[in-house]
Amino acid sequence: MTHTVLLGGSGFVGDALANELATRGEQVTIVCRNPATRRTARPNMTVRIADPYRVDSLLEAIEGADVLVNLVGILNEKGFNGSGFRKAHVEVTANALEACGKVGVNRYVQMSALRAGEGTSHYLKSKGEAEALVRDSALDWAILRPSVIFGPADSFLNRFASLIALTPLVMPLACAGSRFQPVYVGDVADAFANVIEQGGGGRVLDLVGPGTYTLKQLVEYVIALKGRRLKVIGLPGFVSYLQALAMNLVPGKPFSTDNYRSLQLDSVSENNALESLGVTPTPLEAIAPSYLGRQQRAHRFDDARSRAGR
Ligand SMILES: NC(=O)c1ccc[n+]([C@@H]2O[C@H](COP(=O)([O-])OP(=O)(O)OC[C@H]3O[C@@H](n4cnc5c(N)ncnc54)[C@H](OP(=O)(O)O)[C@@H]3O)[C@@H](O)[C@H]2O)c1
Repeated sequence: MTHTVLLGGSGFVGDALANELATRGEQVTIVCRNPATRRTARPNMTVRIADPYRVDSLLEAIEGADVLVNLVGILNEKGFNGSGFRKAHVEVTANALEACGKVGVNRYVQMSALRAGEGTSHYLKSKGEAEALVRDSALDWAILRPSVIFGPADSFLNRFASLIALTPLVMPLACAGSRFQPVYVGDVADAFANVIEQGGGGRVLDLVGPGTYTLKQLVEYVIALKGRRLKVIGLPGFVSYLQALAMNLVPGKPFSTDNYRSLQLDSVSENNALESLGVTPTPLEAIAPSYLGRQQRAHRFDDARSRAGR
């Protein structure tokens, strides 16, 4: 039985991965700052509270593990200069690697993101800096880089579903042409669990779904699933930036200038590692209707997509 520690394992991906590993009969320790309220207790699952900004705190939490998976990540920082992203992504990675070295955990899996290290956003730059630390480490490592992840508790499609509910007739959409290959959270969990079984091997693995969509197509899909008749109007680049500037000031930053900068790069890849990891990519249309809307609406969208040759 492999004992895997999930640092930042209390979130959306951590929940799916913890369940997948527990189902496979593996031992899982979820390490997070706050008690993991969303988790169903399973016999071989433990939750430990630790401070990822203190190596001594991590040492205690990961002692005795075989593998550490670092899932800690943020999409927005409090300020604007990138220090929040570097703290969550680079500092936590450095601490996790140091703790692994000190306590003899030799296998390490890093959750990154497609296009990490590219472009001008602090999010992607800090993910890239964290990747560099992992590549330089002496551990048996792997880096997994998904596109946007969907599933019942996702924050991406569900956020648009909430916005749609508040929008009367027309939805102005920033960065509407940005492209994604949404990947199912269950496939991401399978991919991580398989890498944990196989060993890292110094691999960098892109994880993407079978379909490519613009942001506008994804929002129109959610609108169709919700049974609404909203028109989506893509905003030109400069106006998208102005919208991001204004949203920077909204508490919780539902959209930010850093998100705007990330969206200048398509979150797509031609090197999908899912198949080579033994995972068949699940189409968005097979899952999203179960948590976003009614089946017949989805089928209508499927028909429209196949008529359009997509
Ligand atoms: N969801 C996606 O579409 C997507 C796509 C590509 C990559 N990723 C990456 O996948 C990872 C997991 O994403 P997710 O969707 O599961 O995110 P999530 O639900 O927000 O979970 C993130 C985890 O990180 C911890 N965390 C959050 N802010 C932190 C901070 N400032 N300092 C230290 N720990 C913090 C949280 O644990 P506690 O607060 O309980 O300690 C939480 O368990 C992230 O690295 C993310 O960048 C996600």
